[in-house]
Amino acid sequence: MKKVGSIDIWSHYYERKNLPTWPSETLVRSLKGSYIDGIDKKYKGKRVLDIGFGDGGNLFFLDTLEMKLYGVELSQKICEVTKERLTASGIEADLRVGSNACIPFPDGYFDLLVSWNVVHYGPDLDTIDRHIAEYARVIKAGGRVVVASVGPDDDLAKTAELLGERQHKINLKGDHRLGEIYYYFGTQKFMRSCFKKYFTQIKTGREKVNLFDCDIDSLLLTAVK
Ligand SMILES: C[S@@+](CC[C@H](N)C(=O)[O-])C[C@H]1O[C@@H](n2cnc3c(N)ncnc32)[C@H](O)[C@@H]1O
Repeated sequence: MKKVGSIDIWSHYYERKNLPTWPSETLVRSLKGSYIDGIDKKYKGKRVLDIGFGDGGNLFFLDTLEMKLYGVELSQKICEVTKERLTASGIEADLRVGSNACIPFPDGYFDLLVSWNVVHYGPDLDTIDRHIAEYARVIKAGGRVVVASVGPDDDLAKTAELLGERQHKINLKGDHRLGEIYYYFGTQKFMRSCFKKYFTQIKTGREKVNLFDCDIDSLLLTAVK
């Protein structure tokens, strides 16, 4: 299949049904551990949206918290492939086509929104600001957002061609995102400033791992609406 922009790139990627699937350990620790002061760990029965759920790895984990599961992805195909996987494990989830900028759910619908390596899919700050505003729209007052994004020492960022201060043209050899332009926050301070307009109680973090041949660097943020 020819790559003709973000939707096809990701749909094609997830059509490979035998992709290994696992949740982010950082997300598991953030929601279950004692790393975020004041986090309400009474998850059972509450609504969680996983925006850009991909292969559903994090949905499998969120199901163990006995939450009501919702997800948004770019294409019907991605929703179908992941729905099939979840159903095979007896997990129910309401998966819909949408995007960071257009979440097909009403205002104030979610107790928790998880955005795991998804918020940065846009070329400029205006786009990212619209994503954050849309997250805030669908979270209820007192609800929480948990976000991971690509940090400056990640292979994806380090190998990218810098087009502007934070605009990265992906240039990682063999990667399915080659040539796409993403906006990475660069620092925890700047990430915090972007969410400040819409959220309170903001906390940021960072996780850097050298996993053999790969440098992984994640900027993390959680905040309350
Ligand atoms: C790096 S993957 C992360 C998948 C999943 N969140 C995880 O942590 O395993 C990025 C995901 O974001 C989705 N995506 C790309 N652009 C998006 C956008 N503008 N809005 C919502 N999701 C998007 C892709 O289809 C892909 O599944």
